[in-house]
Amino acid sequence: MFNKFKNKKDTDKQNIELDLHNIPEHIAIIMDGNGRWAKNRKLARIKGHYEGMQTIKRITREASNIGVKYLTLYAFSTENWSRPEKEVKYIMSLPIDFLSTFLPELIEKDVKVETVGFVDQLPEKTREAIETAKARTKDNQGLRLIFAINYGGRAEIIHSVKSLYHELQNSEQSIDDLTEAQFSSHLMTKHYPDPELLIRTSGEQRISNFLIWQLSYSEFIFNSKLWPDFDADDLKECIKIYQSRQRRFGGL
Ligand code: FPP
Repeated sequence: MFNKFKNKKDTDKQNIELDLHNIPEHIAIIMDGNGRWAKNRKLARIKGHYEGMQTIKRITREASNIGVKYLTLYAFSTENWSRPEKEVKYIMSLPIDFLSTFLPELIEKDVKVETVGFVDQLPEKTREAIETAKARTKDNQGLRLIFAINYGGRAEIIHSVKSLYHELQNSEQSIDDLTEAQFSSHLMTKHYPDPELLIRTSGEQRISNFLIWQLSYSEFIFNSKLWPDFDADDLKECIKIYQSRQRRFGGL
């Protein structure tokens, strides 16, 4: 009886059934479209970022429910510093807001907060909020929620080459014996498997310097929704598409 009053969209949403044996272990997301979302509503761009932060909460909950193990979100790139100062300042305040409102739930859901990127260059209060969240969730065993913040793929690779160089200088190993695995062990993502799935919202189809080494064999899904409109069912829909793909890793 109750279903009679459900709208079509709700009914459709209930139909997304996932193969629970084929959930990507690691999902990476380029959260794009906050500015356009705000512009469409004649609002300031920062309002889009605020709504984008709310989306992070929804998507984190869903990823945790579905059993995703690693969720990496591109929150701020090394190139984003070139945006207007007011916007940068606002984005830098969002982790503080996010964590002050959401940390108790993250703790309750056993989520572990982590970062990749040059966190030491962030404003002090932003860094402090992030470090506190990391410390308070460090023993959690559930979803690992990884914020790529002040992160850039090329900068990461340069950073890794320097670190590798120091390792080789202090060892007998020849550069000729360098392996991909050894190089990977110097990346900021060294504790995580490569993402099986990359999602980018807003319809743009590029990777914008995100995890350029790690995405070599990932499935890419470009979703047309703007990030503030992206919801739990959109995530499930992306996973459903992922599950219909055949991954070949260069083989047949
Ligand atoms: C891309 O949209 C979004 C960003 C550059 C910032 C995303 C940051 C957040 C959602 C908040 C981060 C919060 C935490 C908790 C770390 P855009 O501004 O490029 O959108 P546009 O392409 O439509 O202009």
